[in-house]
Amino acid sequence: MKPIGIFYGSSTGNTKKIAENIKANLQPGLVDIYDVKYVKASDIERYDNIILGSSTWGEGVLQADFERFLYDILKFADLKGKKIAIFGTGDSAIYPESFADSMGIIFEALEGRGATFVGEFPTQGYKSVSSLSIFGEKFIGLPLDDDSDEEQNKLRISIWTDLLKIDLN
Ligand SMILES: Cc1cc2nc3c(=O)[nH]c(=O)nc-3n(C[C@H](O)[C@H](O)[C@H](O)COP(=O)(O)O)c2cc1C
Repeated sequence: MKPIGIFYGSSTGNTKKIAENIKANLQPGLVDIYDVKYVKASDIERYDNIILGSSTWGEGVLQADFERFLYDILKFADLKGKKIAIFGTGDSAIYPESFADSMGIIFEALEGRGATFVGEFPTQGYKSVSSLSIFGEKFIGLPLDDDSDEEQNKLRISIWTDLLKIDLN
């Protein structure tokens, strides 16, 4: 596998912690983690494998740092030929109408830019939710619920990272 850059936005530390868990489940020596607050386009462009992670706030709004990163930096980066996987944190019990919407917002902003998206995840096993991140029968990436369903995180991260080991560059 080629090196992987994980880029996350996190307000209270949940998404940061998940980013570290994802790194530990991949080949840690190949993975660098970045808080999107401090990232430039050149930091992204050096990776052929990119993992993007953001929590959802408001009612279906991207985490504030990630929103700036997406529209001010990522939007202008050269993504051709890259593999991109997305994860999102949210709360399916309190926000069932906008659960982990962040992933869908990110995907829609970046699709058609020459990158291939990997790491879709089945909706089975999640509380009944509606989400901008569901396309057909699947989530566009890995949604994690640190607030109401945390006991599932370990297994979901392990299944997802096994998938990425096959599908990343
Ligand atoms: C005011 C507020 C609004 C939120 N809105 C949503 C939402 O619309 N959808 C969702 O899935 N989670 C929502 N959440 C839950 C957060 O996304 C969740 O706590 C997440 O783990 C925070 O991650 P972070 O600390 O990395 O930012 C909200 C939480 C708060 C406190």
